[in-house]
Amino acid sequence: MIAVPASSVAQVGVTRFAADGTAGDGTERDRASIAGTAAVAVTRLDLTDFRCYRQARIDLDGRPVALAGPNGAGKTNLLEAVSFLAPGRGLRRSKLSEVDRIGGGPWGMAATIQTEAGPVAVGTGRDPEGEGRERRVLRIDGTPQRGQASLTGIAGVVWLTPQMDRLFLESAGGRRRFVDRLVFGFDPEHAGRVAAYEHALRERGRLLRERAGDRTWFAGIEEQLASQGVAIAVARRDLATAIDHAAAEGVGPFPRPRLAMTGQIEEWLEEMPALAAEDRMRQALAAGRRSDGDSGGAAVGPHRSDLAVRHALKDMPAEHCSTGEQKALLLAIVLADVRLQTAARGVPPILLLDEVAAHLDGERRTHLYDEILALGVQAWLTGTDADLFGPLAEAAQHFRVVDAIVTPR
Ligand SMILES: Nc1ncnc2c1ncn2[C@@H]1O[C@H](COP(=O)(O)OP(=O)(O)OP(=O)(O)O)[C@@H](O)[C@H]1O
Ligand SMILES: [Mg+2]
Repeated sequence: MIAVPASSVAQVGVTRFAADGTAGDGTERDRASIAGTAAVAVTRLDLTDFRCYRQARIDLDGRPVALAGPNGAGKTNLLEAVSFLAPGRGLRRSKLSEVDRIGGGPWGMAATIQTEAGPVAVGTGRDPEGEGRERRVLRIDGTPQRGQASLTGIAGVVWLTPQMDRLFLESAGGRRRFVDRLVFGFDPEHAGRVAAYEHALRERGRLLRERAGDRTWFAGIEEQLASQGVAIAVARRDLATAIDHAAAEGVGPFPRPRLAMTGQIEEWLEEMPALAAEDRMRQALAAGRRSDGDSGGAAVGPHRSDLAVRHALKDMPAEHCSTGEQKALLLAIVLADVRLQTAARGVPPILLLDEVAAHLDGERRTHLYDEILALGVQAWLTGTDADLFGPLAEAAQHFRVVDAIVTPR
């Protein structure tokens, strides 16, 4: 099952998944032929002064990675390192300096990623020359990169962590960030658009509060807010719709989630073309200057939108579902995102599932493993109990993590 050359079988996976977005015929033979052959996978990870790791190296193949070990051993830290193969601040959203090993220097990590075009060397870390400013440096095959957007072209990285368990209960801002991160996986420009929109929004708010700025200035910035705002809303809406459809293909014991973006812009987009929605938003901003000046915000825009998720079968809003049901809905969304990325790229993303296995009952856990193997994705799984990963047997590579030392099992 292990010694299948990656490239030949990856080919099978790619055409099959890209064509219909599903995961093969699900037979044992089908699973076995695809298992361990992720077309995109981390094959080496080197860490320096990364959290609890002073120096660490792990060599891997394309199979899923099961990390077992006691609390505080360094399992999540490994997943966090892999999450830096995507643009941004990683799965903990920490300040870059918090990732520095306490008592160590600026953190660095190097990874070799197996891709369809061959291996790619990615090096990243906190810029030692940053002088108090938090900056991340990035090299791809030795060439320094401006920004991090080029990472998106190498591999998708998708994650689910225990911190996300409260997604449906917390503020709309957390859900917007969740959707934005899913959009980034397809459109690296989205990050820049959101940042520019938020900056313009703050600038307008400041000048309104200070009763500064003139009509021409406000007209200009509101024009920009309207065009970027509607573009952001459209990108989020399209992503939510695509995940909603992809989640319908999920079979097995995970509940089907229904997803929709809600808000004023979304209502306008239902009723009129995007250009007309931009006009409406621009007019609403102009009309709302006085009250926005008093409130210090802006009454209309995608910064007020929300992601609404429902449990389809129970016809229940996710926030009213049980803890376990919410987790299963989240997992269904993340797996749908993996299917969607696989269809869009032709190859699956890398999937990081922190402490997911322990929270599923036996049937759901088996289904999750089947789905991971059928999708041909290099999934990184963590747990305190190695037995959880027993059913994966040699379809996965098993490691034991104790006191920041990683050893194959
Ligand atoms: N910047 C840092 N420098 C040194 N150690 C750190 C740093 N940040 C976190 N740690 C330590 O790293 C250790 C491992 O953390 P990690 O979250 O990876 O554990 P884990 O194996 O996932 O445990 P659990 O099963 O409890 O989730 C912890 O003891 C934590 O205190
Ligand atoms: Mg952990």
